[in-house]
Amino acid sequence: MQTRTPSLTTSVVARRAARGRPLYGEPMHGTTPRELGPAGAQALLTELFEPGADRLAHSIGVGRRAEHVARVLGQPELLVSAAYLHDIGYAAAACDTGLHQLDGARYLRTLGASGELTGLVAHHTAATVEAAERGLDVALRREFPTPPGELLDLLTYCDMTTSARGEAVTVDERFERIYDRYPPDHLVSRSMQHAEPGLRRIVSGIERRLERSLG
Ligand SMILES: [Fe+2]
Repeated sequence: MQTRTPSLTTSVVARRAARGRPLYGEPMHGTTPRELGPAGAQALLTELFEPGADRLAHSIGVGRRAEHVARVLGQPELLVSAAYLHDIGYAAAACDTGLHQLDGARYLRTLGASGELTGLVAHHTAATVEAAERGLDVALRREFPTPPGELLDLLTYCDMTTSARGEAVTVDERFERIYDRYPPDHLVSRSMQHAEPGLRRIVSGIERRLERSLG
């Protein structure tokens, strides 16, 4: 039988359990919709991802980047919340179909998230391309209409310029690391290759806007 050495994570989990808090992967459901503004979004992340997990670091990095972008370009808080929550579909509590954008949006819908928020999460970073690979494009579009382009592009920009560990990176570095991580015939690699020209266009467009705004 496999045994696990007690770790920092184990002790954190034990402390949370002792305080009556749920274990990671078990969100605190209430009777009213969750508050999913930027602070509520960050709280949910810490409930669903273990401390030190790459997904947590990446999500926080994307959220921080969105805070900067929202400040510079005068965008609403919705962008920041969506950025913190965009990869929530990778959490054990949310993962279902394997298309993390769809799983995340469905999960947030169960928490009472607005259609604007679920739409952004559902469609970020060329979701429709991977959805088509998985045969889920019809379900994705039927359940979550594509949101207006501007916020979606800004969210995608934040995701595509933040590494898996949450550091700011160029879009070249981001693609390089994705292709290093997944073999060429992997569904994620294939989807990213297909989506790459469009994603690069989005990133360079937003970079120009940010440069103009920052003077
Ligand atoms: Fe992401």
